Amino acid sequence: MSAAAQPRLPIVVLISGNGSNLQTLIDAAARGELPVDIRAVISNRPAAYGLERARRAGIPAVVVNHGGYPGRAAFDAALQRAIDAHQPGLVVLAGFMRILTPEFVAHYHGRMLNVHPSLLPAFRGLDTHRRALEAGVKEHGVSIHFVTAELDGGPVVAQEKIPVLPGDDAESLAQRVQAAEHILYPRVIRWFAEGRLTLRENRAMLDGEPVKVLATNE
Ligand code: GRF
Repeated sequence: MSAAAQPRLPIVVLISGNGSNLQTLIDAAARGELPVDIRAVISNRPAAYGLERARRAGIPAVVVNHGGYPGRAAFDAALQRAIDAHQPGLVVLAGFMRILTPEFVAHYHGRMLNVHPSLLPAFRGLDTHRRALEAGVKEHGVSIHFVTAELDGGPVVAQEKIPVLPGDDAESLAQRVQAAEHILYPRVIRWFAEGRLTLRENRAMLDGEPVKVLATNE
């Protein structure tokens, strides 16, 4: 089957900033290596550079500005409406920097992924590179996980370890982690688009088997 004839999964990508992960998805899809149709890119920040990346690729770029809503529930409801207008089979969080309500997360149960710059369960939350350096870990990395109501706590689908090198600072470490994200995230999204990756009873399943992820606390 040619790439053009392959069925493509409709996805919506949520961003807050630069959108380098978004760009890798746009590029992989354009090369025919990722069977997805990016129906929309939605940002909670109007100035997010990723919106420009979307426009350049001819993808609808939508702003749902969290500052325009009285609270988290109202924002999430508006965000949900904006997403569902595009009927995605998968919602991809790619540097989306908002905490989501349990109701929102439940609505996308089993069809929302996130990329997090640490070897989860280590270093949930923000500022992971600085915290990893301060903790003196020898290995840092990236995790892709299904999103559940627990912040950065959903079932991990894939991880990549990045060695911490002598002389690393948060920026140099972040650069190497991001390079790994750019390879790992499209791969995981391809699994999902191909129907190989599912969430079953709070476990990530690949080809019907629980995924084997790296042990992070060894
Ligand atoms: C990534 O490092 C991701 O792990 C974190 O936010 C960053 C987003 O980068 N959640 P970009 O906007 O995709 O360039």
